[in-house]
Amino acid sequence: MDPQTMKKIKEEDARIQENIKGIKHKIVVMSGKGGVGKSTLSTNIAYGLAMSGKKVGLLDADLHGPNIPIMLGVEGKRLPSLREPLKINENLKVVSLSFYLGNSNDPIIWRGPAKTGAIKQLLGDVNWGNIDYLVVDLPPGTGDESLTVAQTLGTVDGSVIVTTPQDVAILDSRKSIKFSKLVNMPVLGIVENMSGFVCPHCDERIDIFKSGGGEKVSKDMNIDFLGKIPLTPEMVETGDQGKPYIFSKKAGAAYESLNTVISEIVKKVEG
Ligand SMILES: Nc1ncnc2c1ncn2[C@@H]1O[C@H](COP(=O)(O)OP(=O)(O)OP(=O)(O)O)[C@@H](O)[C@H]1O
Ligand SMILES: [Mg+2]
Repeated sequence: MDPQTMKKIKEEDARIQENIKGIKHKIVVMSGKGGVGKSTLSTNIAYGLAMSGKKVGLLDADLHGPNIPIMLGVEGKRLPSLREPLKINENLKVVSLSFYLGNSNDPIIWRGPAKTGAIKQLLGDVNWGNIDYLVVDLPPGTGDESLTVAQTLGTVDGSVIVTTPQDVAILDSRKSIKFSKLVNMPVLGIVENMSGFVCPHCDERIDIFKSGGGEKVSKDMNIDFLGKIPLTPEMVETGDQGKPYIFSKKAGAAYESLNTVISEIVKKVEG
């Protein structure tokens, strides 16, 4: 690399570090397999932290399929400047590339360097301010977005690995754990989502996708288990309606387990 390019990269990195220095804790939500509930969990974790009085930023780093705006009820919103994030409430702000793009139904076709550049911009240009937590929602796998986020954030408090109980998902979650360790992101722990279903009529628990795989991986790979979240139809409805499930404070297994996951994270991050 020529000295001029090297100098430019160094300057850009310094600018990003300066811009994110007001962020106290950084958490990255990832998974090996798609559709296991990362965005749902990121949204609920961020919203739950904000409900408990923390100042929170939520970064939608899924550039191809940004779902966070839908889950927060701000789909279709457009912002004039990259500088200001979108305020959801007093304690929660959110940033998604979709706020700065054209039609949200258009597919985004990008090559690696453009994705890297976009994520660096979301971290380096957005005015994150002084916040307690930045929660980053990643796309599945260990591609450009995951690598750029890990490398650009610098010190990350840790990753939350989401899996569902099926063997295929469990197997892929091991890759995420290895990736996280490789890029020096400590693993905060694993969450088993869509873990069983409690029949609302007879209260019987049915393990639709099996159960216990997440705990097994955590034991095998010596990482913490953060909790099991059951399959909950309202989780889909609230996600589609743009009000995170945790907001409803609806008593039951899903609400309790989400709170357990959040308090485990807080315990690990804040000590
Ligand atoms: N515990 C749950 N019970 C019922 N439905 C759930 C649960 N968790 C997530 N879902 C639903 O599953 C679908 C996929 O969830 P989500 O979009 O959060 O997954 P993802 O891992 O972010 O997907 P992608 O890999 O595409 O980014 C959504 O419709 C969501 O509402
Ligand atoms: Mg997602």
